[in-house]
Amino acid sequence: MEENKRLYSAVITGVGMYVPEKVLDNKYFEGLVETNDEWITTRTGIKERRFLENGATSDLAAEAVKDLLKTSNTDPLEIDAIIIATITPDMIFPNTAALVQHKTGLNNAWGFDLSAACSGFLFALQTGSSLIESGRYKKVIVVGADKMSAIVDYTDRNTCILFGDGAAAVLLEPSKDFSFGFQDSILHIDGSGMEALHVKAGGSLYPASHETVDKKMHYMFQDGKAVFKVAVKGMADVSVEIMKKNNLKSEDIAFLVPHQANLRIIEATAQRMGISKDQVTINIHKYGNTTAATIPLCLVEYYRKGKIKKGDKLVLAAFGGGYTWGAAYIVWSMD
Ligand code: COA
Repeated sequence: MEENKRLYSAVITGVGMYVPEKVLDNKYFEGLVETNDEWITTRTGIKERRFLENGATSDLAAEAVKDLLKTSNTDPLEIDAIIIATITPDMIFPNTAALVQHKTGLNNAWGFDLSAACSGFLFALQTGSSLIESGRYKKVIVVGADKMSAIVDYTDRNTCILFGDGAAAVLLEPSKDFSFGFQDSILHIDGSGMEALHVKAGGSLYPASHETVDKKMHYMFQDGKAVFKVAVKGMADVSVEIMKKNNLKSEDIAFLVPHQANLRIIEATAQRMGISKDQVTINIHKYGNTTAATIPLCLVEYYRKGKIKKGDKLVLAAFGGGYTWGAAYIVWSMD
């Protein structure tokens, strides 16, 4: 990206995360549907996921924001804007951002929800970075939060084993040092993917009715095989493309931070990028697919474990419902 198009670089100066305490391990699903730990582990890489018993996506997001404010020693009144990437908003309206603003005392912030399924955090990070790069805003929080248990059909073995609940957040601030922070992104949408991955009812197309409930149209539908094929190609292609565009060799990359949908998709992407297993952030075994939260959860956990360090070059990559997909290149800015 040419520097003269940005007044500032958007750098990450704080992080926060929250996952609910309740764990659903693979054994739990053996009692629900015809499945087993061995199948789930070998086909997906997932061992357990978290489940929010009481509350909604705004509660997950609010806890992540509170963690961010506390650990970065930030006054909530200083936050200018909050963007929440989610496909499981508490309600059709008001937006989840307003509910989180109220719960966390961000009394000077505006904000909005961004719906891009598993690519939500990438899209929101690009959007939040643009607010900072223009010089108009000084502190922007970007959250990825999803209560996937709200839209999962726990009688459908094809989907119920895959998803979990969680949230994570980053704080973006301006810097004149362009060698750190958000460097570039390549993002895509393709609505022809709707057939393979969607929640059909509850919106304006099929408002809630007895019929939509009887037909389970408020649950997520996924044609796993179809999505798997395009996800492998889409995520790998865009990750290689962003490397080439930014002259990144495999040894330059500290970590690929991929969306955690399936370990096999992650491994295929890493292979195409020519990077080793040690250069990939993985927590799918603990949380499953938390949709918009997977990438920021990886960032927060690997940073807090001391694995992601200042100056590290990171490629973030995702593929999800829409279809939506893309990759971003960032240089980590926190000590
Ligand atoms: N336990 C046991 N068997 C299961 C199962 C489960 N939980 N879920 C599906 N199966 C069965 C299928 O019914 C099928 O049986 P059949 O051959 O008798 O019809 C068999 O396992 C193989 O199914 P298939 O769909 O080919 O498995 P897969 O290897 O593609 O794995 C997914 C299924 C969902 C894990 C995989 O397709 C996937 O990860 N898809 C992409 C998900 C994704 O990236 N989403 C991105 C946006 S969130």
